[in-house]
Amino acid sequence: MYYRYTLRRRLIIIFLILISIFFLFTIITTKENYSFPLKIIDRTIILIRTSSRCQSRLDYLHQSWLSSNLAKQSNIYLLTDKIRNYSNLNLFKNIIETNCTETHNIFDLCCKTSHEFELFYNLTERNLNLDWMCRFDDDQYVNLNNLYKFLSQIDSSKPYYIGRTSINKRLKIPKHNRTYTFATYGAGVCFSRVLLEKLRPYVNKTILPINCVKHHSPDDVYIGYLIEFILNISLTSLKELFHSHLEKLDISFRSFNIDYLQNAITFGFAWDRYKLSWLPIIHQLIELIRKGEINSAKLLWAFLQNYEKEHPENLKNQSDQSCLVRHIKQKQ
Ligand SMILES: *[C@@H]1O[C@H](CO)[C@@H](O)[C@H](O)[C@H]1NC(C)=O
Ligand SMILES: *[C@@H]1O[C@H](CO)[C@@H](O)[C@H](O)[C@H]1NC(C)=O
Ligand SMILES: *[C@@H]1O[C@H](CO)[C@@H](O)[C@H](O)[C@H]1NC(C)=O
Ligand SMILES: *[C@@H]1O[C@H](CO)[C@@H](O)[C@H](O)[C@H]1NC(C)=O
Ligand SMILES: *[C@@H]1O[C@H](CO)[C@@H](O)[C@H](O)[C@H]1NC(C)=O
Ligand SMILES: *[C@@H]1O[C@H](CO)[C@@H](O)[C@H](O)[C@H]1NC(C)=O
Ligand SMILES: *[C@@H]1O[C@H](CO)[C@@H](O)[C@H](O)[C@H]1NC(C)=O
Repeated sequence: MYYRYTLRRRLIIIFLILISIFFLFTIITTKENYSFPLKIIDRTIILIRTSSRCQSRLDYLHQSWLSSNLAKQSNIYLLTDKIRNYSNLNLFKNIIETNCTETHNIFDLCCKTSHEFELFYNLTERNLNLDWMCRFDDDQYVNLNNLYKFLSQIDSSKPYYIGRTSINKRLKIPKHNRTYTFATYGAGVCFSRVLLEKLRPYVNKTILPINCVKHHSPDDVYIGYLIEFILNISLTSLKELFHSHLEKLDISFRSFNIDYLQNAITFGFAWDRYKLSWLPIIHQLIELIRKGEINSAKLLWAFLQNYEKEHPENLKNQSDQSCLVRHIKQKQ
């Protein structure tokens, strides 16, 4: 009788201890959810702009920096003017069709840009954790690891406009004493959410294309004007880390060494320089460096740089074969 009584008491005590452990555990884990900062990859939206004429370029992205694993593309969005019947579109998790026309250039560019901003604002309504939006073109290599590492070191509660200038002079506004500069969209640009909120009144679909045309400015120039001149926030220009197709070979790939390749965030490709078809090879090279196979990487890089110098004909008299010519499109 006595034995049964103590057994019951012991069972009750064990039961109570288990319940308190369970509660403690849930309190600790929910607290973790609140207090631990989200990973940078979950706080950053990556946008890639393509055009329906150039969708074949997307193959090179999938063969290099862009994972074809849709589970890894949660925060990556492709924006295109028209979704065409292109077999590899199913390799993208998120595709936005802008329906921007391809008629007048500046208007059209700024139409696309306004959709990029709108997409970010839409996403922040569902996800309060977003801190960054980085946008890239379809002829770029993006080292996502380097990008995330870089962004994670920056205080995203401040307004940040990060990219690369492609001109040396600052631009003037008639009758004003202040000047401004801009980050070339072709090198990739990152904006912190705080800056994006400040930009919001200036960049919607209705007014942005009209104002770009009024200022005779392409999208990147006009965005520089808004941020540097109107909002008085300075561009953080990082010429070592961001690169566009505008750079001449002698001051870009020809002069990059292995360390430089390893550390940069973006590279630009173009039909008359390092072609887009080199993108997967550059990616393999960067993977070799990442795996610590420095000697193999150096050999491959020396081979590529010599090959390019020994074949100057590759750089002349060529057309961009990664995009359909406009008049072909109009006939369709
Ligand atoms: C799209 O293209 C594929 C081949 O690439 C073809 O089999 C399919 O019929 C096309 N679909 C439409 C709707 O044109
Ligand atoms: C784009 O235009 C086409 C045809 O006018 C329409 O079917 C489609 O829904 C539009 N897409 C968007 C995102 O507005
Ligand atoms: C943003 O959301 C609005 C309202 O749902 C929608 O009409 C618009 O197409 C969205 N824009 C983008 C770029 O996703
Ligand atoms: C422009 O500003 C600078 C200093 O900020 C001043 O020295 C200069 O006189 C100004 N020029 C004009 C035309 O206002
Ligand atoms: C676009 O922005 C302008 C100026 O901030 C505003 O007057 C207009 O109502 C906005 N349009 C839309 C569709 O939000
Ligand atoms: C712009 O910002 C700087 C400091 O970042 C400040 O000194 C300057 O007065 C501001 N100019 C205007 C026109 O607001
Ligand atoms: C470019 O190549 C084409 C043949 O592919 C030739 O007809 C044309 O004359 C060349 N143009 C120049 C500027 O070399």
